Amino acid sequence: MSRFCELVLLGLALVWLCSRATSQNPQVPCFFIFGDSLVDNGNNNDILTLARANYMPYGLDFSQGVTGRFNNGRTTVDVLAQLLGFPDFIPPYSRARGPALLRGVNYASGAAGIRDETGNNLGDHISLNRQVSNFARTVQQMKRFFRRNDTTLNSYLSRCIFYLGLGSNDYLNNYFMPNLYTTSSVYNPKSYATLLLQDYSRQLMELYKLGARKVVVTAVGPIGCIPYQLARYSKGNSSRCDESINNAIIPFNSGLQNWVDRFNKGLLPGARFVYVNSYETSRSLEANAAYYGFQVIDKGCCGVGRNNGQITCLPMQQPCDDRTKYVFWDAFHPTEAANIILARIAYGSNSHSDVYPINIQQLAIL
Ligand SMILES: *[C@@H]1O[C@H](CO)[C@@H](O)[C@H](O)[C@H]1NC(C)=O
Ligand SMILES: *[C@@H]1O[C@H](CO)[C@@H](O)[C@H](O)[C@H]1NC(C)=O
Repeated sequence: MSRFCELVLLGLALVWLCSRATSQNPQVPCFFIFGDSLVDNGNNNDILTLARANYMPYGLDFSQGVTGRFNNGRTTVDVLAQLLGFPDFIPPYSRARGPALLRGVNYASGAAGIRDETGNNLGDHISLNRQVSNFARTVQQMKRFFRRNDTTLNSYLSRCIFYLGLGSNDYLNNYFMPNLYTTSSVYNPKSYATLLLQDYSRQLMELYKLGARKVVVTAVGPIGCIPYQLARYSKGNSSRCDESINNAIIPFNSGLQNWVDRFNKGLLPGARFVYVNSYETSRSLEANAAYYGFQVIDKGCCGVGRNNGQITCLPMQQPCDDRTKYVFWDAFHPTEAANIILARIAYGSNSHSDVYPINIQQLAIL
């Protein structure tokens, strides 16, 4: 019997899980996800917010239809869960109960950021601070499956993968909304990045205290190139990225990579952090769009106005016919086709400019 099943047999309810596990054994026992709308899989459905996607045509190409995912199909973490060998997608925190918690939970929430106030312009959301508190609650609930023995629970958690994708909204729905937020009048891009990373590193250390050891953090993507910004800022030529926005997030991304080095080089003993450079991989995907089979990189497949980016995809709106030809599904979010490519690169690339210092597959088998 595998070490996984021995552990799992501690609780009677887990016989169920074990019989499933023997049919397909994932490479890690569980997968926990923290983030924003790029990876939210339904946590915002019952929240009072404009950042919601639980209506058609969102989910048009998804096996379970409309779930609250912010694109036509799978998110990058759905694809990663499959690559890691999970038989099912990781459930949203809003619905995860009982022994299913042992496989992991998705805490992500559309409009959420590292800072609590980020995204308030869209309504309620679950900020990273609250996502981390929700994980602490899950850890309490998991204890009963480990006979309240913290040693065995911590050993279990130390083999799981923790994925965090945050920061985009701290720029889009905070710093670059000067009418609603004061951050851009108080901080320059460099000092704002430092401020965000102070909070983020503290939140990551909190996850470490709660048992996280294998942690994946993702860069903020080139948000100056999303259809929303192309429609908003690019004057004259609406297919040109806003490089002033892209440049502003560079200090955040390079600072995040530095934190990964510090955590790995002794600051957090036993921790293995991985930095996914989604900024570089997205830019490379857009620069080599044809190679990847894309025809449209500057318009959402579904949306209204210039670049289909002025108003996001509305209920019952007719999307483009061939979703596999578009990098963007709506004003903000990549299509499933783009997510599949980004996830595969994070999982298996051997280039340090994609994923650093090791890839997710290597992290899993450590
Ligand atoms: C917890 O489990 C470990 C490993 O099985 C064991 O050595 C330890 O004594 C247990 N601790 C408690 C408090 O039961
Ligand atoms: C607009 O910008 C894109 C990307 O930089 C470029 O390929 C295209 O030729 C430009 N179009 C015009 C009309 O300047």
